[in-house]
Amino acid sequence: MYSIKEIDEKLYYVGASDRRLALFENIYPIPEGVSYNSYLYNGEKTILFDCVDSSVEAQFMENIEKVLQGRPLDYIVVNHMEPDHCETLQVVLIRHPEAKLIGNNKTFTIMKQFFTFDVDSRMVVVKEGDVLELGDKKLAFYMAPMVHWPEVMVCYDVDKKALFSADAFGTFGDLSGNIFADELDFDREWLDSARRYYTNIVGKYGMQVQSALKKLSGLEIKSIYPLHGPLWRENLEYIIGKYDLWSSYKPEEKDHVLIAYASIYGNTQSAVSYLADKLQEKGVKNIVTYDVSSTDPSYILSDAFKVGKIIFASPTYNAGLFPKMETLLTELKAHNLKDRKVAIIENGSWAISAGKHMLEILSSMKNMEIYDKIFTIKSSLKEEQLEDFDKIAEFIAE
Ligand code: FEO
Repeated sequence: MYSIKEIDEKLYYVGASDRRLALFENIYPIPEGVSYNSYLYNGEKTILFDCVDSSVEAQFMENIEKVLQGRPLDYIVVNHMEPDHCETLQVVLIRHPEAKLIGNNKTFTIMKQFFTFDVDSRMVVVKEGDVLELGDKKLAFYMAPMVHWPEVMVCYDVDKKALFSADAFGTFGDLSGNIFADELDFDREWLDSARRYYTNIVGKYGMQVQSALKKLSGLEIKSIYPLHGPLWRENLEYIIGKYDLWSSYKPEEKDHVLIAYASIYGNTQSAVSYLADKLQEKGVKNIVTYDVSSTDPSYILSDAFKVGKIIFASPTYNAGLFPKMETLLTELKAHNLKDRKVAIIENGSWAISAGKHMLEILSSMKNMEIYDKIFTIKSSLKEEQLEDFDKIAEFIAE
């Protein structure tokens, strides 16, 4: 059965949600599901704004045909060529071979890499600032490279002041009936998913997101229609403000503390539990502790973007760093996390070297304020070490 919503005059939501996919991009767990948003304008011309992942193809095609009611499809705007939005492009073109494709030069280069259908005869190439008048709809195009791929552009409905924002302002999570953020308790129920989506998918490209935000600040925007998650028509400054913070790598909560630890037999875990108590005694609130072996790195990375202070504790393993801790630190570095206050705790029973490896990675990240002494535990934390150990809590809490 079709599932469509008229979100503005003659503009329909024709996307769909996948609630069965375990791993987005085959790497990020999404127990909350994910929506693939697509929009169809049914005015003097018919214009489809992006497609969807093939997992929701049947629903998507039914939605499109319900809106079109036998009309031809005149244009497809391709804001982003990643397959979670473009896998169904070919299917749409088989059904609507008459459709022209609107994209930029990079869009069509990537399109020809993925597909063998005739691109050239359908291409309408746009560049920065171009405006197209398609029947009664006037659209302006702005390039947003690396938010999240190099060909990404956003499309601005000049009359309605609506922004089709591609991946920007997207969120993990399926949409069920309420597709607008103002119909949901976004701050309480969705913000963590939005942060995890942004930081893991686009987090590396903060500088480019900042450029895009600067460019868009010159536009009057009344609605934002992203490719994932809820749509925005109220309180836009809330989500734009979050993107501004995340992309500038500033913590949302500079005094919150995250402890990420690995523990093989429980001794490192026991040490960080003691440390968490010390932090609490020094007045630190909102301490969050993650075992890197049981929490997917995407959640820890997301929280690392949220907080201002992080403690890493890991045993030595194979004369190196415990693999799950190495993965986490490598991910944090790859996503360009910076400007955090951190402390390092290592453990080992012989040839202890985990701290050296953690320090190597952390000191290669920008502006990390690292506690100057790696704290070493030999198998288990001892009473006579506590005075020194407490100094980590002092450094983090101050
Ligand atoms: Fe939702 Fe970059 O694709």
